[in-house]
Amino acid sequence: MKKIKLGILISGRGSNMQALIKSCNEQGFPAEVACVITNNSNAAGLKAAEQVKIPSFVVNDKPLDADRIHEILIQHKVDLVCLAGFMRILKADFLSKWDNKVINVHPSLLPSFKGLNAQEQALKAGVKITGCTVHYVTPEVDAGAIITQTAVPILPNDDVNSLSERILVEEHKCYREAVKMIAEEQN
Ligand code: GAR
Repeated sequence: MKKIKLGILISGRGSNMQALIKSCNEQGFPAEVACVITNNSNAAGLKAAEQVKIPSFVVNDKPLDADRIHEILIQHKVDLVCLAGFMRILKADFLSKWDNKVINVHPSLLPSFKGLNAQEQALKAGVKITGCTVHYVTPEVDAGAIITQTAVPILPNDDVNSLSERILVEEHKCYREAVKMIAEEQN
C-alpha cells in the first residue's frame, strides 16, 4: 500500500502531531509525516518534531506567510495537510490550492461550539455531552464536512482543564482514524 504524505501544521504543544507521528511509525499505517510547519518559533511541538528528525519549518506569523506554507508542502510532496492546534485562519486563496486536502481537529462536536475555547463554551452552555471532530477545512471556520467524531461526557465536577484532557485523549484517536480512512480511500 502506498503511504500518503502528511504535512502537519501546529502552533503550540503538538500532542495531536505527536500522536500522528506515533501512528505513522506503526507498521502498516498508510501515512507518513513529510514535514511539520509552525507559525510559532516557541511551539513545544516544534522541538518534538525536530527531535525525531522530521523536517520542520517556522513561517512568518504576522501576517501569516501562507505562500511559504504552500511552497514547503509542495517541496515535500504533501498529499494531506493536517491542522493540529494550528491557531491561524487559512484563507480561501490558500485553501483553493489544497481543495479537500486540509483537515483539522476541533475540541467539540461540531457544528456546536465553533471557534476558540470550545471546551469552555460547552461547559458554559451546560451540555452533558461534548467531544471532538475531525473535519475538512473550508474558508468558513469549523464548518467543513465532518470526517470523524467522538462523544465525550461532561462530568459534574469538570473544569476546563479536566474536560480538555478527557477530550484530548479522544482527539488523538479520532485524528488517527480520519487519516487512516482518507489514506485507505486513496489506495
Ligand atoms: C487541541 O485540543 C485542538 O483540538 C485545539 O487545540 C488543541 C491543540 O493541542 N484546536 C482548536 O481549538 C482549533 N480551533 P495540541 O497542540 O496538543 O495538539
